[in-house]
Amino acid sequence: MKVLGIESSCDDAAAAVIETGAPGIATVRASAVANQDDIHRAYGGVVPELASRNHVVAIMPVIARALAEAGIALAELDGIAVTRGPGLVGSLLVGLMCAKGLAQSSGLPMVGVNHLEGHLLAPLLEHRVAMPYLALVVSGGHTALFMVEDFGRYRRLGATRDDAAGEAFDKAAKLMGLGYPGGKIIDEMSRKGRPNGVKFPRARVKGAPLDFSFSGVKTAVAVFLASEAGAATAREDLAASFQEAVVEMLVRPTLAAAREHGAETIVLTGGVAANSRLRERLSAAAAADGRRVVAPSFRFCTDNAAMIALAGSVRLMRGERDPLTLDAEANLPL
Ligand code: KG4
Ligand code: ZN
Repeated sequence: MKVLGIESSCDDAAAAVIETGAPGIATVRASAVANQDDIHRAYGGVVPELASRNHVVAIMPVIARALAEAGIALAELDGIAVTRGPGLVGSLLVGLMCAKGLAQSSGLPMVGVNHLEGHLLAPLLEHRVAMPYLALVVSGGHTALFMVEDFGRYRRLGATRDDAAGEAFDKAAKLMGLGYPGGKIIDEMSRKGRPNGVKFPRARVKGAPLDFSFSGVKTAVAVFLASEAGAATAREDLAASFQEAVVEMLVRPTLAAAREHGAETIVLTGGVAANSRLRERLSAAAAADGRRVVAPSFRFCTDNAAMIALAGSVRLMRGERDPLTLDAEANLPL
């Protein structure tokens, strides 16, 4: 089955073509992304109205690019999978309306996909991972732990009570005047800094050991920067210490969840999964515990349409389709 995936839930417009023979086993024929970082950089974060307006311009060319790279015409496809939530509603609507138009004109079946389901299944694009597995989804919009029991069966074990970890990276970078998006900059800068240079708090949620909280460490960065010590501390030490705190706050609940639920495999996915220190610390902690960590390569960690096509293909293969009255849902639960 050849499936076109379309993704526009946040600031990336993406399209991909995958070919799948059995549920969850796929070859990526093409995966194209139209990134908007240059547009949002001036504001230090994603501006929803700008994101949706730019999606309108970018979505058809990115779909054309994916089809051309795959060497497949629309008529040769077997179905279309599109993100219908959660995300910015204006952004979601662009991809969804585009998918509906293509489905209507071509007669192809269309299915709506939960963006988080895409992230959870992303490792299957490159690895054979047996279910059940534990997944830490950690991006600019989400930080949550899920047990992936089967296709369509996901159990949420914990989530952030406030900011997502990626948001904390981006806001800390903004406070430090480092530019946008800040995660990658902090990661690179931290290599030259001391992770114990500044003592930042490690938050734990009382009575909920599998939940996360990142607003405190973000405030701690702001308070520290305004202090005398803050002005005298090397930015590299500050970055490395902040990163270490966030990484520890991600690793602890993840390991606890793996132990509690007997997960041998831990999947690390979402944009922050690109963080070198997080990969290093989580892999080491998991290995010491007899577990392994599987992470998609960077292009499938960040928002992409191949993961959406994969998640949608499982339903398309069962003969399912959604009606063209399908709506976008900003807070779509998984
Ligand atoms: O998955 P993604 O592309 O979009 C969302 O769905 O949010 O994730 C983007 C987030 C941003 O917050 C960015 O700063 C963060 O991932 N990020 C990183 C790194 N690379 C990207 N955070 C920490 N270290 C990195 N190397
Ligand atoms: Zn995402």
